[in-house]
Amino acid sequence: MARPRPRILVFAGSTRAGSLNAKLAALAVKAIAARDAEPTWISLADYAMPIYDGDFEAASGVPDGARRLRDQMIAHHGIFIATPEYNQSVPPLLKNAIDWVSRVRPENANAPSPFKGRVFAIGSASPGHFAGVRSALHLRQILELPLGATVIPDQISIPSASSAFAGDGGFADDKQARRLDEVVKRLVDEASRYVV
Ligand code: FNR
Repeated sequence: MARPRPRILVFAGSTRAGSLNAKLAALAVKAIAARDAEPTWISLADYAMPIYDGDFEAASGVPDGARRLRDQMIAHHGIFIATPEYNQSVPPLLKNAIDWVSRVRPENANAPSPFKGRVFAIGSASPGHFAGVRSALHLRQILELPLGATVIPDQISIPSASSAFAGDGGFADDKQARRLDEVVKRLVDEASRYVV
């Protein structure tokens, strides 16, 4: 009997129309599907949450968007995040989503964690020369150190991203396509270990 395919959640840390990171996420979705895994592409626009505020949390609890995002994360064996870089770090949309998800109290001692028990891969895209790599490194630290996630060492960071995507949505440079495929292959291989 064929083994079930790993499920991979994909999202960008930007909801901007024309987002370069959404373009990278879209190509990751295609590469994942070509690797015989099952991608789910979501937009954080569909998981609205206010900026984290302790008084809001005390009065109203964790917002529904954060609970639904956590459920999506738990339902997948791997997660690919394409992050923009703002002032050399992770943009507030993405950091806020991670902060809120980290505030959901597990239902019981055996409840799965959205960060542990699955594997992450990071991508970044920026119009600048540094390709968003400083944001990608900060995101890696946030996921790994406080949250205990496993993040694969392979990463894709796209510099000069305003001209990196061709009209058909593919990469203008084949080298980037090959790099994305390497990252996705490693992600899918690692995620396969979590398929039971
Ligand atoms: C940026 N941008 C940016 N780019 C970069 O490479 N390094 C940086 O430190 C910053 N800083 C920064 C701060 C703020 C507040 C904004 C709004 C933008 C530019 C950023 O990479 C660019 O807007 C991307 O296009 C954002 O990603 P999406 O929305 O295209 O995915």
